[in-house]
Amino acid sequence: MAAGGARRARRLLVPALALLLLLQSARPAKALENGLALTPPMGWLHWERFLCQTDCSQDPRRCISEKLFMQMADLMVSEGWRDVGYQYLCIDDCWMAPTRDMQGRLQPDPKRFPSGMAKLADYVHSKGLKLGIYADVGNKTCAGFPGSYGYYELDAETFASWGVDLLKFDGCHSDTVDLLVGGYKTMSRALNKTGRSIVYSCEWPLYQKSLQKPNYTEIKQYCNYWRNFDDIYDAWSSVRNTLDWTSLHQDNLTSIAGPGGWNDPDMLVIGNFGLSWDQQITQMALWAMMAAPLLMSNDLRHISPASKALLQNKEVIAINQDPLGKQGYRITKDHNGFELWERPLSGGAYAIAIVNRQEIGGPQAYRFFLAFLGNGLACNPACSIQQILPTSRNLGLHNWISFLKVFVNPTGTILLKTVLIEEKHSLGIL
Ligand code: GAL
Repeated sequence: MAAGGARRARRLLVPALALLLLLQSARPAKALENGLALTPPMGWLHWERFLCQTDCSQDPRRCISEKLFMQMADLMVSEGWRDVGYQYLCIDDCWMAPTRDMQGRLQPDPKRFPSGMAKLADYVHSKGLKLGIYADVGNKTCAGFPGSYGYYELDAETFASWGVDLLKFDGCHSDTVDLLVGGYKTMSRALNKTGRSIVYSCEWPLYQKSLQKPNYTEIKQYCNYWRNFDDIYDAWSSVRNTLDWTSLHQDNLTSIAGPGGWNDPDMLVIGNFGLSWDQQITQMALWAMMAAPLLMSNDLRHISPASKALLQNKEVIAINQDPLGKQGYRITKDHNGFELWERPLSGGAYAIAIVNRQEIGGPQAYRFFLAFLGNGLACNPACSIQQILPTSRNLGLHNWISFLKVFVNPTGTILLKTVLIEEKHSLGIL
């Protein structure tokens, strides 16, 4: 098309697309006002990789103990994790003694955490990291340890007195909506009342789903991030199901996410056993697209250099942590199994992910029209495109009516970033 024709077409299309954009961007929901999680929290969480090994004589290197967390804290610093943003070192289920103490307080298992939680928090803080802990809204945790039901205030005070910085609050054994919803709200208020900055991670919508439709506007007022879907496993089927569930419900989910409140598709399992290299790339790219908390569950003592580099990729982390805080969404899925996702970033930039969901054959070509991106605005009139994953490379300048062709491995993803070029700078390209 001649430059004049392109400009005329743009003049007609742009107002229509801008209106569409306006209709799509609902008023942001009010977030929990604790000033935390303005970008998705990053860190490490023990559950997927270490589960609930409580017998340290059986498995001293993998049991849930202060030693494990101290080792991870050391590595988070010495191996550069902290410096790229992984800050929260989080304990999941199975840290507790089987009963509360004489004053009704939760206590760590004395054999596995002999120094106590306040000491562990001091250690973690001395490394420039923050400590996360786990409890449950019902009368037992999912693994059967003491639950917080009836003790919300006391438990919040106990965590604050230890110097805890994040609470993952699970929803097992909450059989009624009143208990579940009431419990999550009460704990949120109790944490606030302690005066300590404690990020509040909820599983409220996941457990509410079986009882009634979760009210995300309300959830965002009480929680900093929340789990919506099943526990992640170290398997492609699990990552795939999580992505499918998220794109199916993306209208509800993306309108609610933003600074202070995030949808949590669960842990990153990169660096473990179950995902191929391309699948690891897909998890990292799509968790960045979804503005997801980046909580790794892996063994930092044994991780391949490639997985480490992927998890520490600064360009991908920058997309995840983009200050605009808009969650990405799938824009198309074609009959060949290709998915095209986009995420609006600050400054008119966009992150673009092309996922090849085919599980047969080799790399396949995918060709797409740049005018489709960002409701027609991402490359309008022109943009520069940077490939970020699987490898970093500059794909050059493009105008808004051009096509881009990429090759994507089966179950893999190409992650790109478009940067808008203003009309006055784009004359040579149009
Ligand atoms: C599940 C939760 C997991 C993990 C586990 C611990 O309900 O979704 O992430 O915390 O409990 O028992």
